[in-house]
Amino acid sequence: MLDATTGEIDLGGTTVPTWTYGGELPGRELRARRGDLLQVRLRNALPQPTTVHWHGLALRNDMDGVPALTQPEIAPAATFDYAFTVPDAGTYWFHPHVGVQLDRGLYAPLVVEDPDEPGDYDQELVVMFDDWLDGTGSDPDQVLVDLLTNGMGGMGGMGGMGGMGGMGGMVMPRSDLLGGDAGDVTYPYFLANGRTADAARAVDVRPGERIRLRLINASGDTAFRVGVPGTPMIVTHTDGFPVVPTPAEAVLLGMGERVDAVVEVADSVVPLLGLAEGKDGVTQVVLRPGPEAAPDVNAAVIALLGSRVTAVNELPAAESVALPALEPDVVHPMTLGGPEPGYTWTINGRTYDPAFGVSVREGQRVRLRFENPTTMFHPMHLHGHTFQIRGPAGAGPRKDTAIVLPGQALVVDFDADNAGQWLTHCHNVYHGEAGMMTVVSYVQ
Ligand code: C2O
Ligand code: CU
Repeated sequence: MLDATTGEIDLGGTTVPTWTYGGELPGRELRARRGDLLQVRLRNALPQPTTVHWHGLALRNDMDGVPALTQPEIAPAATFDYAFTVPDAGTYWFHPHVGVQLDRGLYAPLVVEDPDEPGDYDQELVVMFDDWLDGTGSDPDQVLVDLLTNGMGGMGGMGGMGGMGGMGGMVMPRSDLLGGDAGDVTYPYFLANGRTADAARAVDVRPGERIRLRLINASGDTAFRVGVPGTPMIVTHTDGFPVVPTPAEAVLLGMGERVDAVVEVADSVVPLLGLAEGKDGVTQVVLRPGPEAAPDVNAAVIALLGSRVTAVNELPAAESVALPALEPDVVHPMTLGGPEPGYTWTINGRTYDPAFGVSVREGQRVRLRFENPTTMFHPMHLHGHTFQIRGPAGAGPRKDTAIVLPGQALVVDFDADNAGQWLTHCHNVYHGEAGMMTVVSYVQ
């Protein structure tokens, strides 16, 4: 039983009223093995209708959790039985697909284990990064209303920051790594596994242990730069699928993206940091092999800012999951647009309308070409499939969510092998709600 419910959550000294799965933040992890049948009864104790989307899984279409397109919304006080086979191992997560509920506390990890994977590590650590404003004097529904009314520069909680900057009264966050605007919404808190940096969760480790990190960005509007300063990570998976293991000092995770990486802990306390990219915020989980106090977070931030950031979109897929090289049977442009006056974000010139998706046929090799002429990055997500990025150097990683930088294009290929009506959209939850979604539609 999975309860979507309202309640108070302690972020580490600050208690906020919010919506969660089961009264925990993040919600309790679900774990399965590849090929398992996962059965979850969702009980909706929220004041709004909801659904659950199982982000990244190539599951049966009627369990995908997209209102109207794949299932009716689950009314308040109603239940819905999700049941589906999990086809691929990897690091996934789940969240609602109604409105901007995702930017409350409704998210949790879903880990699918591969019984055949050797697993060269001693323990696992799942870390969910999040930007937080719910219950701090505002909430995501209010932020969306503000954005739709006033355009960019939506305000998070803490009010009182007006007066800074120009137009919207806010200074837009910027990031070179993101090629421009770093976000539309101001957040008072940034969280790792539900905690702010000064109340960070600590994980007991033994010196020399190898930790498999499963890093998940569950944010609404924030990319995170993640690393363990001074400790190299070996990146092993992108969005659940293996890549050629690659050392990295830091990685950038857009909203919805995941990276698995292995770190070998030294004999002193180190932070696993998540910097809110371009937003001047930080959060952390502390890896603690001994009793000493955690090091100064500001020094760690400076070290991480000086680290090289590995481009996950360019990592080569592991041979076992690389798609066979084929010419596409069909190429669909996906031109991103916005924000138009007010706050409208589009794909191919339209806000979301399921009647104007793109068509594919079962068995086709499909190419999507995301073009981003806007001034902001968009983490574009495809439901029900794990595409392969085509990089300048040829075949890149398998992913289901990937950042498309401003002024750039991202080309992805996938095999149309999972019939249904599948959303593709920006995983900035405000962009998605403001229209930046469309449908990849299997036709006969
Ligand atoms: Cu995680 Cu349609 O999204
Ligand atoms: Cu976007």
